[in-house]
Parts: sequence; structure tokens; C-alpha cells
Amino acid sequence: TEETHEALAPISWLAGRWVTEDGKGQYPNLKDFQYHEELEFICIGQPMLNYMSTSKHPETKKPMHLERGFLRIKPGTNDLAFMISHNFGLTSLEEGSVDPVKKEIKLVTANLARVSFSKPPHVKKFTREIRLLQPNILEVVLYMETDNTPLSEHLRAVYKKV
Ligand code: HEM
Repeated sequence: TEETHEALAPISWLAGRWVTEDGKGQYPNLKDFQYHEELEFICIGQPMLNYMSTSKHPETKKPMHLERGFLRIKPGTNDLAFMISHNFGLTSLEEGSVDPVKKEIKLVTANLARVSFSKPPHVKKFTREIRLLQPNILEVVLYMETDNTPLSEHLRAVYKKV
């Protein structure tokens, strides 16, 4: 594996592969659900982490929501941009920053685009929080707003580094 780029020092704690210990989904008017997810944040020598998220149904193991993208840092700062392509027909650009002391990232969508034939309700905004709870234990929390629903929690998951 390549070395982690020096510009990534503020988010070096995120690099690696993570697997859910507990993944909980919810949303107003949806049934609560559990999911299994693997995350990858991999540096191949560039000032960014290449990102993959693969979620599966915990019992049937069928693939669910998939994300592929890049977490970029503005070199010399704590400013972040997270660019993602989602398998259900959405692309998102999130922007925000990392607190390197707390080891906590906060991001808010700056841009969303969807395929013309995507199913409603459409996402209008989401926020993502990524924090290290303990060495090798990560938490991700995602809130979203749709056409029908104000900003509400959709995902809350705890991961172990593998
Ligand atoms: C439902 C968006 C991540 C599982 C939804 C809905 C939207 C949405 C817009 C429909 C809500 C409604 O009907 O009111 C997103 C976005 C995500 C995301 C923007 C990431 C940024 C995930 C992940 C999972 C997941 C990682 C993991 C399995 C589900 C499930 C439903 C759902 C199971 C209910 C589907 C149904 O009842 O047909 N999501 N989602 N989502 N999402 Fe997500």
C-alpha cells in the first residue's frame, strides 16, 4: 500500500477499512431497519481518500445502498469535500471540515443531482457526521431532508476497524 499523503494528516485516523458492529436506519414514516456496511477510505498517494461504502441486508445479505467517491482535503487546511456517486441515481457533493483534535468530521451537502427517472421522494439535503469514538471505533450519523420530510435522522452506525 502507498503512503498516506501528508496533506491527509488531519484525517489520517479515518484511513482503512471499517465494518459495522451496529447499523441502524430510520426515517419518519419508514419502518426502522438494521443494515450491515463496509467502508473503505484508502489513500493511493494522492491528497484524498478513495471511498467505498457497501451496505447489505443483515439477514439476506443482499446489497442495498452503495456509495463510491472521494474525500478530498484542501492541503494545509482542515477543509473537506466529499464527492459521491450513489447507486440509486444520486450524486452528492458534501463540504465541511474536520476537527483533528476531536477526530470529528462534519459535512453538509453543497450540491445534489439525480437521474431524471429517480423515484420520489427526492433528497433535498443531508448532513453527515463521522467521528472516532475510541481508537478503531468509528461512528457515522446521517440526517436528511426530502420533499416530504424535514431534516431527520436516517442512519446511525458504529464500525470497527478491520
Ligand atoms: C429510504 C436516501 C443511505 C437504506 C430512503 C429514502 C431516501 C433515502 C430519500 C426514501 C425516504 C422516504 O420514503 O421518505 C438516502 C441517502 C443516503 C441513504 C441520501 C445516503 C446519503 C442509506 C443507507 C442505507 C439506506 C446507507 C443502508 C441500507 C434505506 C432503506 C430505505 C431508505 C432500507 C427504505 C426503503 C423503502 O422503504 O423502500 N433513503 N439513503 N439508505 N433508505 Fe436510504
